[in-house]
Amino acid sequence: MSANLKYLSLGILVFQTTSLVLTMRYSRTLKEEGPRYLSSTAVVVAELLKIMACILLVYKDSKCSLRALNRILHDEILNKPMETLKLAIPSGIYTLQNNLLYVALSNLDAATYQVTYQLKILTTALFSVSMLGKKLGLYQWLSLVILMTGVAFVQWPSDSQELDKELSAGSQFVGLMAVLTACFSSGFAGVYFEKILKETKQSVWIRNIQLGFFGSIFGLMGVYIYDGELVSKNGFFQGYNRLTWIVVVLQALGGLVIAAVIKYADNILKGFATSLSIILSTLISYFWLQDFVPTSLCSSM
Ligand code: C5P
Repeated sequence: MSANLKYLSLGILVFQTTSLVLTMRYSRTLKEEGPRYLSSTAVVVAELLKIMACILLVYKDSKCSLRALNRILHDEILNKPMETLKLAIPSGIYTLQNNLLYVALSNLDAATYQVTYQLKILTTALFSVSMLGKKLGLYQWLSLVILMTGVAFVQWPSDSQELDKELSAGSQFVGLMAVLTACFSSGFAGVYFEKILKETKQSVWIRNIQLGFFGSIFGLMGVYIYDGELVSKNGFFQGYNRLTWIVVVLQALGGLVIAAVIKYADNILKGFATSLSIILSTLISYFWLQDFVPTSLCSSM
């Protein structure tokens, strides 16, 4: 049963990551009139959808009894403030990480950013060994290095001349520091969440409600800081269309699936699944959307 859940969750993660990347890319190429949706509000909406989905799952687990649901939410969340507070740590780190990635993308070209961000596969393994006492053999370390190199090659810039020459050395350094810090925060937050899930009895859905609660608060602070003026002028849902909702739902689904993968598999396998999805979306881009052209680097591999 547990082995089934492990491969099912990993399979859904590959499907979810691939469709999110392709939908986001499609939504970016679409030209629409009016204001664009604010990504800061999309983060909050995705967190709220995640909480609602988790409440439904807890309701289903408590045999569809509203009274039982109410009792579980009271006993496990409201009456255990210290346990709930533990989730503020990964939640705060994920918020910081999302902001760091924003800094990274403002100072680095997208390809360099994505190649460098693959270092998180190794930081995740390092945190899994040091915080969870996982043992990795020589072949497992070797396959992690090969995986990281392979993914980096897939995303290598197709032509170095395409790199944005306007990025100064100073801002490149800021971008690089941001993405390197994000690699460590990604590894740490993921493994910390895994430790909480595997070393305590509370269900993965309760833990996700706690994570989403802090995520929504931190996310709302982000809306206020970055887009407060725009929201008061044009509203919270400005620029939302059907595609925005699909992206937001896929993002919320991502949070649920990542939690299930961390619970039933682990963060290292999560790295393999998301890498597989990068390769899949590259293939779909090439064969279906015809917007990816292999370079000499790819064809000589
Ligand atoms: O790049 P990385 O794999 O660290 O990104 C993980 C993403 O998954 C973060 O944006 C985080 O907000 C999200 N997440 C989530 N729910 C979880 C665990 C992670 O939404 N339970």
